[in-house]
Amino acid sequence: MSTDAIVILKNDHKEIKKLFKRFQAAGENATTEKGNIVKSIIELLTVHTYLENECMYPEVRNLLPDLEDDVLESYEEHHVADVLCTELFAMDPDEERFDAKTTVLIESVTHHIEEEEQEWFPKVREGLGRKQLQELGARMNEMRQKAPRSPAQPSALKKAVDAVTG
Ligand SMILES: [Fe+2]
Ligand SMILES: [Fe+2]
Repeated sequence: MSTDAIVILKNDHKEIKKLFKRFQAAGENATTEKGNIVKSIIELLTVHTYLENECMYPEVRNLLPDLEDDVLESYEEHHVADVLCTELFAMDPDEERFDAKTTVLIESVTHHIEEEEQEWFPKVREGLGRKQLQELGARMNEMRQKAPRSPAQPSALKKAVDAVTG
């Protein structure tokens, strides 16, 4: 398993985008299948967001102050995704707004992933040494074990509530 922080996060992105494609390819009436795909999307996003919000973003903000604006924008984009995930988590897939809400989630997360991979990660790789990225990655691999997997778990929910009320 790689311990380069950027490689780890990119692998997550790949898995998430695979699920997005599966959702988009599922038929209009594939309600059960789409419900299951969205469950998996929420789980992967909850873990990934936890690793970025609790480890990657604060560390980069600390080590590379020039990237502060990018980090703050990322927090806001994750906040939007958190709200949508929390709502989808409580919804039945046959509800009228389920597909629409998922589509908005997919659009906004796809945009965010593109920004990270095309603009932010290259700057981070330039600013941090190979060793620092490996240390960060090793910490994230460890944090993954205890990461929340659903918006209903206290550590994940707290984030969403903080984001809404904060
Ligand atoms: Fe992110
Ligand atoms: Fe990410």
